[in-house]
Amino acid sequence: MTNVAIIIGSTRPGRNGETVARWVHDVAVKRDDAKFEVVDLKDFDLPLLDEMMPASLGQYANEHTKRWAAKVDEFDAFVFVTPEYNHSTSGALKNAIDFVGREWANKACGFVSYGTNGGTRAVEHLRLVMGELQVADVRAQVALSLFTDFENFTVFKPGAHQEETLTQVLDQVVAWGEALKVVRAPN
Ligand SMILES: Cc1cc2nc3c(=O)[nH]c(=O)nc-3n(C[C@H](O)[C@H](O)[C@H](O)COP(=O)(O)O)c2cc1C
Repeated sequence: MTNVAIIIGSTRPGRNGETVARWVHDVAVKRDDAKFEVVDLKDFDLPLLDEMMPASLGQYANEHTKRWAAKVDEFDAFVFVTPEYNHSTSGALKNAIDFVGREWANKACGFVSYGTNGGTRAVEHLRLVMGELQVADVRAQVALSLFTDFENFTVFKPGAHQEETLTQVLDQVVAWGEALKVVRAPN
C-alpha cells in the first residue's frame, strides 16, 4: 500500500492550513488505493535549521531532526498543503523541507495551495525545490482562493469543482508514489 503524507505547511496561530488539510484527508480516505496521514509541522516543533552537516549527507545530530527524518521516511508520497506568503511558501515549510534529504528523494508529491490568489506562486517555488530534492511533482494542483473558497477569508467552503481537482491530484500522486518505489528498492 502506498503511504501518503498530507503535510500542513503553516504553523501560524489561527491558520487556515489545518482546515484545508483536514478536507484533503476527508476526500483522500474515501479511496482504497493508498493510506493517508495528516502530518502537522507544529507537532515537530523544528527550530530554524540547526544541523552542522548538509542534509544531503544524512548525518543528523539533533533528536528533532532524527524524529522528523523518521516521519518523512515513512511515506512514499506527499501532498503539501501550502499557504502563499509574499509570493512563496511559508518559512516553516521551507525550513522543514531543508532539514532532511534522502527521506524525500525518489518519491512523488502534489500541492494544495491557498491564498488571495490561490497560492500558485508558492507552488511554483516549491516545484523548483522539489526538483533539487528529486521529488517528482505531479501536474494537477488545487489552488484555493481566499475570496471564493472561504467566507470572510477564514471559513473554508471549497467550490464544488475543487473536490474533482483534488481527486486528480491524488490520482497522480498515488500513481507516481507507487511507481517510484522501484527506484528506491535495494538492488
Ligand atoms: C506574511 C503573509 C504574507 C502573505 N502574502 C500573500 C501573498 O503574497 N499572496 C497571497 O495570495 N496571499 C498572501 N497572504 C495571505 C495568506 O495566503 C492567507 O492569509 C493564508 O490564510 C495564510 O495561510 P495560513 O492561514 O494557513 O497561515 C499572506 C499572509 C501572510 C500572513
